[in-house]
Amino acid sequence: MIALFLQIFTCFLFTTTTLASSPHGFTIDLIHRRSNSSSSRLSRTQLGSPYADVIFDDVTYLMKLQIGTPPFDIEAEIDTGSDLIWTQCLPCLNCYDQLAPIFDPSKSSTFKEVKKCHTHDHSCPYTIVYADNGYSKGTIATETVTIHSTSGEPFVMENTIIGCGHNNSQLSQSSSGLVGLDWRPNSFISQMGERFLGLVSYCFAGQGTSKINFGSNAIVAGDGTVATTMFKKNEKPGFYYLNLEAISVGNTRIETLGTPFHSLNGNMLIDSGTTYTYLTGSYCNQVQEAVDGFVTADRVADPSDYNRVCYNTDTIEIFPVITMHFMDGADLVLDKYNIYAESVTSGIFCVTIVCDDDGSTQDATFGNRAQNNFMVGYDTSSLLVSFKPTDCSALWS
Ligand SMILES: *[C@@H]1O[C@H](CO)[C@@H](O)[C@H](O)[C@H]1NC(C)=O
Ligand SMILES: *[C@@H]1O[C@H](CO)[C@@H](O)[C@H](O)[C@H]1NC(C)=O
Repeated sequence: MIALFLQIFTCFLFTTTTLASSPHGFTIDLIHRRSNSSSSRLSRTQLGSPYADVIFDDVTYLMKLQIGTPPFDIEAEIDTGSDLIWTQCLPCLNCYDQLAPIFDPSKSSTFKEVKKCHTHDHSCPYTIVYADNGYSKGTIATETVTIHSTSGEPFVMENTIIGCGHNNSQLSQSSSGLVGLDWRPNSFISQMGERFLGLVSYCFAGQGTSKINFGSNAIVAGDGTVATTMFKKNEKPGFYYLNLEAISVGNTRIETLGTPFHSLNGNMLIDSGTTYTYLTGSYCNQVQEAVDGFVTADRVADPSDYNRVCYNTDTIEIFPVITMHFMDGADLVLDKYNIYAESVTSGIFCVTIVCDDDGSTQDATFGNRAQNNFMVGYDTSSLLVSFKPTDCSALWS
């Protein structure tokens, strides 16, 4: 999901005095201070590389992690489009129905509310609002967060800043909250400490379980790997932008050059927490028209309210192959499953490249369905996103 804003009502959250005592403490300038040399990266590999199990939940990918002492299991959406780690938290003012038990901070010996709000000694509220109007409101706390490590030892992040959400709009019932993985200081990766090494990778399969890797085990390389430059924008500092140069619909290549969508420094954000792929303006219409010119079936209204272009057909075979051409020659030939989805109403397939034509100023977004069956690696030191065609469900089965 794309976070529109995060408001934390505190003056002291970012000062070193609050949190500097912890070994994995929060450091606002982590990304800038991280070593850039490959030799220092490799010297730490014997410590093991942090990872977490990932499960697919219909439209989102949930990461399994533990919070608190003793560790309490949660499953939370993996979201490269936001920063805060939050979970539903007792006492609930307004929690959505969640299948697993809700975190009770009174049962954790390491839970600490951040208590330096303004000049008073009271708790520190936050509000985060997402592009789909979802939100979470609660209090900021520090807590121990634990995932796995390839060393066999748990990977423990003490004094991690989290949101304890007391009023949360509906997520999937399987989800306890969100794990933000964007660039900003409150995100999961920014708080991981030196074993993050600037590297994260995941491989989404649309079924079963998989893993999200951090650190030395998150390098994506080998046969078929392509890489594209990742951009950061000052006006939207959290997001990972890529530069989309063209889309091919079958053999018809549609350039962004000459359209308002064209850019040299990133025109599309890559978001693990958005399901479909969104394009903007006339460029999106050109892509949809090219698909429409290829498909002979009749167009029908989208039976759901996603605003997709849909066709009366029993088979995905009638659709053209889509190739996304990212900067630096990173051409991703997508499987038909990545772009075309069978509707809940049988006999209808819909195109999951959706045009944002409601006049909104949303960014184009490369969603998680289109990323299926690529190992996707973010290297935040070299500013590259790598894609390697992979049968993700076969990797960990
Ligand atoms: C929860 O937050 C929403 C959105 O800001 C608000 O409308 C609602 O009144 C809140 N509910 C409670 C119980 O505080
Ligand atoms: C970091 O690494 C990148 C890619 O290897 C290189 O282009 C850049 O100059 C390096 N930066 C520093 C500060 O060494």
